[in-house]
Amino acid sequence: MQAISHYQELISNYFDDLELVKEPKNLYNPIQYILSLGGKRMRPILTLMTTEVFDVDAKKAIPAATAIEVFHNFSLVHDDIMDDAPLRRGNETVHEKWDVNTAILSGDAMLILAYQHFEEYEPKVFRDLAKLFSKTALEVCEGQQYDVDFETRDDVTITEYLKMIQYKTAVLVGAAMKMGAIVAETSEENANLIYDFGLNLGIAFQLQDDYLDAFGNPETFGKQVGGDIIENKKTYLYLKAIEFAKPNEKDQLLHLFSVQPNESTDKINSVKEIFNTTGASLETQKAIQVYTFKAFETLEKMKINDDKKSMLKVFGEKLMSRNV
Ligand code: IPE
Ligand code: IPE
Ligand code: MG
Ligand code: MG
Ligand code: MG
Repeated sequence: MQAISHYQELISNYFDDLELVKEPKNLYNPIQYILSLGGKRMRPILTLMTTEVFDVDAKKAIPAATAIEVFHNFSLVHDDIMDDAPLRRGNETVHEKWDVNTAILSGDAMLILAYQHFEEYEPKVFRDLAKLFSKTALEVCEGQQYDVDFETRDDVTITEYLKMIQYKTAVLVGAAMKMGAIVAETSEENANLIYDFGLNLGIAFQLQDDYLDAFGNPETFGKQVGGDIIENKKTYLYLKAIEFAKPNEKDQLLHLFSVQPNESTDKINSVKEIFNTTGASLETQKAIQVYTFKAFETLEKMKINDDKKSMLKVFGEKLMSRNV
């Protein structure tokens, strides 16, 4: 196995060399644009790493890793329309730079482009990858719909929230890793254990995404800070604040989240203060650790060398200390 930076480079070089200069420009330019804005490339790195965890050359996993990253970027283009988000990776979102219709169709094309990368594999591996991908993509849609449905509900439970983030975010992280296992043609048991590792890491990842959405540094975060508050998103921060709030704070929070989305800084500041005073912020940070450690426990059940386990743990720990 190599250092994490090796896998990062492998996938970044691949996307840097990608040239999608085709006609019609208004279909392909937005795709080239969003893919070239980079991002952490976390999911493809996990696919490549997992293939080597199971002793097969990471290069064999490049098409699967690319498929996952293109799908992820597709989901962001459509997510930004749904969340009315102005900023992505420090730049204008696709629907702001072009328009909503362009973002819809370029997104659709990306979903197809993602699938095409699986054609590089022989029938058995192709079938397993495509099957996992279709199941996962449908779950992401389900999670995204719950996310939107929850905006206008005031009785969302923590259990419902956890299911929502498992579907919209964590299954893709699990699938990214399981795809590495499929490409490496390891045992079913290994493939399922690494999926569980990714799933728990993905839950921790979304909890932290929620946290950073409120408390990230606007200079470096790359997305609109407070976007979830503007949109009345039922995040872990919000649900824990409601649970821990004194009656007057609870009324205030319910009221703040009953108004139509608007960009009031007063709302954002008041909500953030309640997140802090109720202890919801601290509780969210605890939950991020709980799910990360849950992922690490899955690792202990796996029959792989200790150096491989430590590498996956280092990756999980790095995610916990991220600020974008
Ligand atoms: C953002 O994903 C969407 C979520 C599931 C939270 P990332 O935080 O991985 O975004 P990039 O690809 O690094 O920009
Ligand atoms: C996004 O969740 C999940 C998917 C894109 C499927 P968010 O809406 O929290 O992601 P960000 O914060 O916009 O990146
Ligand atoms: Mg969003
Ligand atoms: Mg969203
Ligand atoms: Mg978010």
